Amino acid sequence: MGILFENDLKLCLALGILSVIVILLNALIQVYLPTRNLPPLVFHWFPIIGSTITYGIDPFKFLFDCQAKYGDVFTFILLGRKVTVYLGAKGNQFILNAKLKDVNAEEIYSVLTTPVFGKDVIYDVPNAKFMEQKKFIKFGLTAAALRSYVPLMQDEFHSFIKSNPQFKGASGIVQLPPIMAEITLFTTARTLQGKEVRQQLNTTYAKLYHDLDDAFQPINFMLPWLPLPRNRRRDIGQRKMTQLYTDIIQARRAGATEKDSEDMIWNLMQCSYKDETPLPDTEIAHMMIGLLMAGQHSTSAASAWIMLHLAAQPETLEELHQEQLRALGGSTTAELTYDHLQNLPLAKHVIQETLRLHPSIHSIMRKVKNPLPVPGTEWVIPPSHVLLAAPATMGKSDAFFPKAELWDPHRWEHIADPHESEKETMDYGYGLVSTGADSTYLPFGAGRHRCIGEQFAYLQLTIVVSMMVRYFKLGNVKRKGVVETDYSSLFARPMEPAYVRWEKREEVA
Ligand code: HEM
Repeated sequence: MGILFENDLKLCLALGILSVIVILLNALIQVYLPTRNLPPLVFHWFPIIGSTITYGIDPFKFLFDCQAKYGDVFTFILLGRKVTVYLGAKGNQFILNAKLKDVNAEEIYSVLTTPVFGKDVIYDVPNAKFMEQKKFIKFGLTAAALRSYVPLMQDEFHSFIKSNPQFKGASGIVQLPPIMAEITLFTTARTLQGKEVRQQLNTTYAKLYHDLDDAFQPINFMLPWLPLPRNRRRDIGQRKMTQLYTDIIQARRAGATEKDSEDMIWNLMQCSYKDETPLPDTEIAHMMIGLLMAGQHSTSAASAWIMLHLAAQPETLEELHQEQLRALGGSTTAELTYDHLQNLPLAKHVIQETLRLHPSIHSIMRKVKNPLPVPGTEWVIPPSHVLLAAPATMGKSDAFFPKAELWDPHRWEHIADPHESEKETMDYGYGLVSTGADSTYLPFGAGRHRCIGEQFAYLQLTIVVSMMVRYFKLGNVKRKGVVETDYSSLFARPMEPAYVRWEKREEVA
């Protein structure tokens, strides 16, 4: 027993000494070994872990601290990977508009997304095929389709609030982010996803959605195959969700479902690749899952942030209410139309300001494929590195947005339309998009991988926020300002709990 204990002690001691040697060697190499032709490496004590923890806790603080110390270009260690960050407009141009042969998104994202979306779509296909798929999605997001979604979203909103036990009575307290997530899911389901998906939302679909969503975790970037119960539920959920969509498609093809709206499934069912192959049903199913996941988190986080700010600044909520009443000619009962939505400048500024201050996607990553010289320096970024663009850092910088930490929608009254500064455009295979070279505001990214859901997201956010404002007066509960940001999941979101006090307006009570 005594000898065993002594041996254990010796082993621990040896391991301890070895760890200290490795840590010291790692530190000495960083300090003394010249890294010719490579951007500066962020100092870290522990190999492999590197800066993972500081970056993970608050990526913006980490990026700004590193920028102050090393400049716009630097490399840090993220779970053993060398990640080179290039900040600022030049960095956005360098990364988001790099040539396809030099950088690649799918090698980074596919491990996480393919088990959730399914095969043969988005990051599981060569980029040229994905660009065609983006074009098909764009076909389905026409102004006519968006116009038809306006009454559907409002209907969903009314029934959500009326049937939700948390909004019984004249006033109360509610945890806001989960409510906004549900409203986002319901309004997306009834419009983009279609009638049948909406019908199954209270039962099968919601469970499958949560099983898939649960697997959308940062750890799955590294270890998506871990035999965790969560990953097993993901794999089963993925198959069942695909079946659910293919059943809907086949019923539609058999004429069993009447077309009652311009949803994305109807649109994709008519699409064919350049070689005239029609989009297979499983690909439609997988694209629908991908679209749901792409939009849900960013939009629901944005709507939650907006309502939290309005609870903290009720005077802005009242301004929004007045703006809406003016657009509706003073009527408190008239429904919003697509045209009304174009006449709500403050609502637009509220969304712009929220996406500036609370971007849900803080880091955009690409795999380097060929050595990439950084113009104006002697540095060459090797193919072993990952590139990280963070256009949102510019939105949070006082240099571009005075008093950047303040949420002030009115600042946009003095800023030219941000799209004006996205002058340069390019067609990557799905229509002209901004290359975003000079813009200080790129909440939807730029270049080949730019978001195609922007118009849909704006429509949905404008409607949801307008309806909330129309139903409720809001206020903070035992809190000044808004909650902190939770960076622990893949998409940044408000830290919970985030309670607000609501009071129904007389006209809806
Ligand atoms: C406020 C809401 C949203 C924000 C802030 C947002 C933001 C972004 C950003 C920053 C990117 C670029 C990612 C990259 O370069 O790696 C992106 C891409 C994309 N987004 Fe969105 N998005 C939003 C809503 C939506 C919605 C509602 C949809 C679907 C209807 C959608 C579908 C997509 C798709 C398909 C891509 C393309 C990915 C690629 O080409 O690699 N997004 N989005």
